[in-house]
Amino acid sequence: MNKSPNLQVCLSPDLFHLFSDRKSTVVVVDVLRATSSMCLAIENGIDEIIPVSTVEEALEYKNGKDFILAAERNGQMVKGFDFGNSPQQYQNTEELEGRTLVMTTTNGTKMINIAKEDHEVVIGSFLNITALVEWLTEKGKDVIICCSGWKGRFCLEDTLFAGALSAKLMGEGFHSDCDSVLASGRLYNASKKDLFQSLEDSSHRKRLSNLSTNDDVQLCLAHDLTTVIPVLQGNSLVADSKQSIVTK
Ligand code: MLT
Repeated sequence: MNKSPNLQVCLSPDLFHLFSDRKSTVVVVDVLRATSSMCLAIENGIDEIIPVSTVEEALEYKNGKDFILAAERNGQMVKGFDFGNSPQQYQNTEELEGRTLVMTTTNGTKMINIAKEDHEVVIGSFLNITALVEWLTEKGKDVIICCSGWKGRFCLEDTLFAGALSAKLMGEGFHSDCDSVLASGRLYNASKKDLFQSLEDSSHRKRLSNLSTNDDVQLCLAHDLTTVIPVLQGNSLVADSKQSIVTK
């Protein structure tokens, strides 16, 4: 009989060293908005995403192959780049088909690059949550859900997603003795009736609403718009499953 896999939730990139075990699959989460945008970019035709930590690294790809360059800092698109981090930019465009996206964001791409040193990395968001649960359950490996937070700090939206994903994985036979699994699950239960409302006074929603991106928030909170599972292979995120449930 297979041993039931272990589940942990890491609430900030700055706590990752306490969880790192060189064997678990790490689910990187940045619900608003990096990992949601990544899922939609691949769903809508991008072949691979190269997540880099700094704007300077992203600029090294300028004038190279036919790359699309995306950069976001403090919620805003960085001047001189083709794309920012709005998930709406990765919808309803033929520009993405078959291309490579080089992306840097304030927190999400950093978290990916921290985790990839010693762990298998997969991208999670509400947009692919059901497919992700199936994928993780089928693999049967231990899982650490890693919230990208905001500049090392705790953030509510990633924690709510961690709670939602944890509840589903525990329902599939994962076990845990991690209090952040309990805490995120309880927070999610108290908020799940209206996630948009429950984030109303959260710091990142305030930050984004100053930039008029409420539509982005609504889109990032939609469930199961895709079955794409972006996994890191070398330095690139590629789709493990390209099967799509989106009506284009
Ligand atoms: C990030 O990676 O820090 C976020 O996705 C920021 C944003 O909302 O664009």
